[in-house]
Amino acid sequence: MSGDSNLHDIHACVFDAYGTLFDFNAPLAARRARIGPAADRLSALWRQKQIDYTWLRSLMGKYADFWQVTGEALDYAMTACDLEDPTLRAELMQLYLSLDAFPDAQACLETIKGRRLRTAVLSNGTQTMLTAAVNANALKPLLDRVFSVEACGVFKPHPSVYQFAVDALDTQPAHVCFVSGNGWDVAGAAAFGFRSVWINRAGAPVEKLPFHPVAEIRGLDELADLLPS
Ligand code: LAC
Repeated sequence: MSGDSNLHDIHACVFDAYGTLFDFNAPLAARRARIGPAADRLSALWRQKQIDYTWLRSLMGKYADFWQVTGEALDYAMTACDLEDPTLRAELMQLYLSLDAFPDAQACLETIKGRRLRTAVLSNGTQTMLTAAVNANALKPLLDRVFSVEACGVFKPHPSVYQFAVDALDTQPAHVCFVSGNGWDVAGAAAFGFRSVWINRAGAPVEKLPFHPVAEIRGLDELADLLPS
């Protein structure tokens, strides 16, 4: 499904990282046999607490980097699942540095680069985390820039994060197509003024916020059809 995509005057495509280009469920998939029936609950709790803690720290004005927040979220999720295993924790955190890219990510970036549009990542991840994930998936040649919120000291959807990318790319919000698999991030980007596109892989309901994506698609393989050729 896509609305009036209205993406004719796009100069750059800016992508969220985790849940958009990279699959944050990959670490649990790699350790499912070891974790057992709690694996899916652990993965869901880990992700939810990771994002909850970014929102809470932003509201409190108490920024800590995404690597620390990701570890603290994993600690919560492991405790909630009665998993006390420092070796497993270390392995899951290490796997987070080399998350698998979604199967449609590379071809999408190649097509967009072929359209002579600039490409960038804008993520809560630290520069170290993002460099590791980009390099692990050989995506570096397809990305003009990789932006971490570390430079802003606050997490998405704070508008200063989206503004950071606009300033660094020397463009205007209306010329940016922001792509995310996270409905809250899509809403935040739309509220800021980006043309946001939601990669709704799970068929989730749209957020009940008055800031909507210009298009909703089910995979990155559909993105190029929305962009100027
Ligand atoms: C990111 C997380 C929020 O990459 O998906 O910023």
